[in-house]
Amino acid sequence: MTVNNKNTILVTGGTGYIGSHTVVALHERGYRVVIADNLSNSHRFMLDRIAEITGQAHPFYAIDLCDKKALKALFEQEQDIVASIHFAAFKAVGESVEKPLTYYRNNLVSLMNLLEVQQQFGVAKLVFSSSCTVYGEPDTLPVTEDSPIKPASSPYGNTKQMGEEIIADFTNVSGIKAIALRYFNPVGAHHSALIGEYPNSVPNNLVPFITQTAIGKQQELKIFGSDYQTPDGTCIRDYIHVVDVAAAHIAALDRLMNHTDVQAFEVYNIGTGTGYSVLEMVKAFEKVSGKTLPYRLTNRRQGDIEKVYADTSHSNKVLHWKAQKSLEEMMHSAWLWEQKLNSQTHTSK
Ligand code: WQD
Repeated sequence: MTVNNKNTILVTGGTGYIGSHTVVALHERGYRVVIADNLSNSHRFMLDRIAEITGQAHPFYAIDLCDKKALKALFEQEQDIVASIHFAAFKAVGESVEKPLTYYRNNLVSLMNLLEVQQQFGVAKLVFSSSCTVYGEPDTLPVTEDSPIKPASSPYGNTKQMGEEIIADFTNVSGIKAIALRYFNPVGAHHSALIGEYPNSVPNNLVPFITQTAIGKQQELKIFGSDYQTPDGTCIRDYIHVVDVAAAHIAALDRLMNHTDVQAFEVYNIGTGTGYSVLEMVKAFEKVSGKTLPYRLTNRRQGDIEKVYADTSHSNKVLHWKAQKSLEEMMHSAWLWEQKLNSQTHTSK
């Protein structure tokens, strides 16, 4: 595939879960990709996996974006960068409650450094990894991009809200144009099962906990709360295949690169528009895996909201993007990834 070097995209956090899938999608779209990651919450072997999928290695800079000097050196080295996609951030909700300053410093200083260095080097396009957590517990469903932003329920969620505000204020005065993508619940893995969600410790998130339980790494799934005001009493979320999330970044980048009517700062919901309960997710997994999942109904988890799912009409219409993959494909790909992860020895960091 011929790659036009004038279309070099910087992906920060590119060895992470959504970042790695987006690097693959960018390559397949003909972009040249440069990856920056400090590997604090991901693994160097993901670079080999990405290379195996794309058929080539991608320039990698093991830097921390809080180190502005290192970030400037990257931009001096990579003069063809025309846009960046910013994933690099800490994202564990519970950990953010215990270590708020670590989260505010890391997630906001890295973002501000990127904005300043992009302005300095005339890189005028940014796609920002945001989150549906900005909506908190919505008053009405489905949530649209105009739904009220509720007080964040964690420092992590607050860094996403503040990140959007920082970008909105800076794009007003800097000539940079930015799109924030508010992800709902990314799950699943690339069909090759070479890249996927790789928790550093016991998973917080539902789907990796399900697959680790099915493979025997966890004893049983604890379902946090069965007394919610939902049809089966368990929480509802808008789960979306990570490959569809990656495709949304391509759509956002295309809009920034090729459209003249882009506002200084735009936000889009990246979900499927359909909510599934925890028990429905368990049943979907059992259907695709043929396994019976051991689970126990336990107390609610602090900070969980009852139900949230997206109105994606704005993304569908303006980004010309729509989630394509089914719940079965989400679960099947997640299960294949878990099985492959446990069938091979792989180099650690
Ligand atoms: C989903 C549902 C749990 C684990 C995540 C990220 C957040 C944001 C949105 C990025 C909830 C239940 C879970 C378990 C369970 N993404 N559950 N047993 O909380 O919606 O938030 O997606 O910004 O950062 O954390 O996702 O997968 O943790 O939980 O019953 O062992 O599954 O109670 O109802 P959540 P989750």
